[in-house]
Amino acid sequence: MQRVESEIARLIQEIDYDEVTHLFTMLSGGKRLRAKLILKIAPDDEKAPLLAAIVELIHAASLLHDDVIDEALLRRGVASVNATEGSKVAVMLGDILYSKAFTELVGFNKEIAQTIAASVTALSKGEMQDVKMAEKFNSDEKVYLDMLYLKTATLIEAAAKASALLASKDAQKYAIYGRNLGLSFQIIDDILDITSDEATLGKPAMNDFVEGKCTLPYIYLHEALDAQGQKRLEALHAKPLEEEDSKWIKEKMQEHKSIERSFELAKELSNEAMQAVKDDTELVEILQIMIKRSY
Ligand code: FPP
Ligand code: MG
Repeated sequence: MQRVESEIARLIQEIDYDEVTHLFTMLSGGKRLRAKLILKIAPDDEKAPLLAAIVELIHAASLLHDDVIDEALLRRGVASVNATEGSKVAVMLGDILYSKAFTELVGFNKEIAQTIAASVTALSKGEMQDVKMAEKFNSDEKVYLDMLYLKTATLIEAAAKASALLASKDAQKYAIYGRNLGLSFQIIDDILDITSDEATLGKPAMNDFVEGKCTLPYIYLHEALDAQGQKRLEALHAKPLEEEDSKWIKEKMQEHKSIERSFELAKELSNEAMQAVKDDTELVEILQIMIKRSY
C-alpha cells in the first residue's frame, strides 16, 4: 500500500497548488478498500499502484461532492471539507481531484480507461437517484438495490475488472466479485448506521433515515408492519428523530427481524462474490473481514 500512497502524493504534488496539497492532507484516507483490491488482483503489474491511486482520487472526489449534497458535517470521524471550508471549496477540490484522476487514466489502455470512466457516469447516476428517492418514502426493494448498485458497487466492480484486465486475468469473474462485494459492503453499512453509535460510525447514528434514505432494514420493516405502523414509519421519514421514535423503530426492527433479513442478503451477495473467485484465498479473506464488521 505504500506504493499507492506515494502515487497519490505524487499526483497531488503534480496538481501544483499549495491549497489543494494542504486540504488533501486534512482528509482522512479511509480504508482504501478499492486500492487494496486492485493490488491484490494485479500484485505484479507495475501500473497497479497508479490505477489504485486514480480510483482512490475518484472515490475521494465523489465523497467531497456527496458531503455537499448531503450537507454532512462529519466524514470518517473528522469535520467534512464543506463544514470547515464551505461548499464551494469542497466542490472545486472534488473537481480538481476527479479531473486529475482522469488525466492519468487516459494513459491506460482503452478498455481499462473505459471501464473506470463508465463507472463514474454510473456512480453519478446512482447519486442522483439517491437524492431523488430521498424526497419520499421508498418501499421498493428493487428500486433501492438498483440505486445502490450504481452508487456504490459500480466503482468497486470497475476497480476489480480493470485490475484483472491489467493482470490478464478473467475480467468477468473479478467484475462479479467486485459488484457483489460492493453491494454487500453497502448493505452492511446501512445496517451499521442503525446498530452502531456515533463514536464508532464517525457520524451520527440512524442518520440515513433522517437524511431521507430508506435503506434495506427500513424497507423490510415497512413491509412487515401493519397499516398503522407503516403510517407512523412514513411520517418519521426525513426528519430529525425523537429518542422515543428511534427506540420504536429499533424495537420494531427487532420484532420483525429486519436487520437479520438485510444481513442475510448481504451474506448471500458475499457468497456469490466468493464463488466467483473461490481459488483466491486473499480475496475471500477480504469478504470475510467485511462480513465480520457487522458484529
Ligand atoms: C456516498 O453515499 C456516495 C457515493 C458512494 C457516491 C457519490 C457520487 C457522486 C457525488 C457523483 C460525483 C462523482 C465524482 C467523481 C465527482 P452515502 O451518502 O450513502 O454514504 P455516506 O454515509 O458515506 O455519506
Ligand atoms: Mg453521504
